[in-house]
Amino acid sequence: MTYKKARNIADLRVLSKKRLPTPMFHFIDGGADDEVSLRRNISAFDDYILTPDYLTDVANIDTKTSFLGGQSALPLMLSPTGTSRLFHHEKELAVVRAAAKFDIPYALSAMSTSSIEEVGRASNSHKIFQVYIMRDRSLTADWVARSRAAGFKTICLTVDTPMAGNRERDLINGMTIPPRFSPATLLGFALHPHWLANFALHPRFELSNIIHKSDVLGAQGNTSVIDYVNSQFDRSITWEDAAWLAEQWDGPFIIKGLMSAGDARKARDVGATAIMISNHGGRQLDGAPAPIDCVKSIRDAIGDDLELIVDGGVRRGSHMVKALAAGANACAIGRAYLYGLSAGGQAGVEKCLSIFKSELERTMTLLGARTIAEIRPDHLARNGTADGSSDN
Ligand SMILES: Cc1cc2nc3c(=O)[nH]c(=O)nc-3n(C[C@H](O)[C@H](O)[C@H](O)COP(=O)(O)O)c2cc1C
Repeated sequence: MTYKKARNIADLRVLSKKRLPTPMFHFIDGGADDEVSLRRNISAFDDYILTPDYLTDVANIDTKTSFLGGQSALPLMLSPTGTSRLFHHEKELAVVRAAAKFDIPYALSAMSTSSIEEVGRASNSHKIFQVYIMRDRSLTADWVARSRAAGFKTICLTVDTPMAGNRERDLINGMTIPPRFSPATLLGFALHPHWLANFALHPRFELSNIIHKSDVLGAQGNTSVIDYVNSQFDRSITWEDAAWLAEQWDGPFIIKGLMSAGDARKARDVGATAIMISNHGGRQLDGAPAPIDCVKSIRDAIGDDLELIVDGGVRRGSHMVKALAAGANACAIGRAYLYGLSAGGQAGVEKCLSIFKSELERTMTLLGARTIAEIRPDHLARNGTADGSSDN
């Protein structure tokens, strides 16, 4: 099967597994510790059911919506993911171009392998730059200035990574960033000649937004990204630092990685316009709740003061509808598009987005919601609690 024939995101995952050397696939696919949060992020969606309204004239479905200060063709954005060059030589440029084609926002990671300027030039669509607050504050301030100059509209601060999570699949598979070709890993790479040729023949791997700080990164990657995170990310940051960042930026400001009503209130108070309810795809604190389970309580606490984006475990259009019915403005995806990227570059990411678009349209049609605004809280119930009392 090629990515063109993929019926769903699970098919793209299978293709990604075939295409990538084992360490790279598991770097995308894996989570922290016992992967409890990773599994729960996806399975929690099964705890909710959707009750349809019928005879509502669903001949025309409109998936357009507004979030982060602009119109989007779908209530969906692409989450920041670092090191894309490991998965496909078209790297982040493939992803931003696919997002532009589908008219949805794309978030570029600070740990990306394409620079802020390259991505800025690649498309005029809604671009978000995701930062960490570094020990060296000048690096964060520099990213903000470069993002503004390169036409990025939104800034996103990830707060769930005071240190790198414990990803044991990476230890088992000898995954390092950048990859090291040792006798132990060589066979795995040799079994994927297509990937190896792409890796060798196209521009080399580099963390493009920090490469100029080679003093902290180590001579062309002698320091691994994990070591880099643990030594350079500032563990002492507080809400005051988030407020400092908000002051630097005069557009939409997202805080990514929050899971509680209390933190959502603090995010509002320091000037955030949106939060991504996220546990980093189960890659950081294992045991953190699933994002879908947090939406309702945060929405109830915060009212309309913040936009809420559900990030983690979204693999189906029906997951998007459940998140919206629970009170989210939009969803975000990470692994789903990386499976597409590794399976087929830009065309693979486009395939991923076309799957979400058609699944969303079908779910809305079957639910009886013609527009995003028509997806209501009473369409959603906890599994086992629906009793037909929904009164449309
Ligand atoms: C390979 C990979 C790299 C990631 N890199 C980053 C990153 O640099 N910054 C960040 O905020 N989140 C990062 N994330 C987390 C994603 O932004 C997102 O929160 C997560 O993938 C959502 O869960 P999902 O994969 O189930 O959709 C990464 C995730 C993956 C899978």
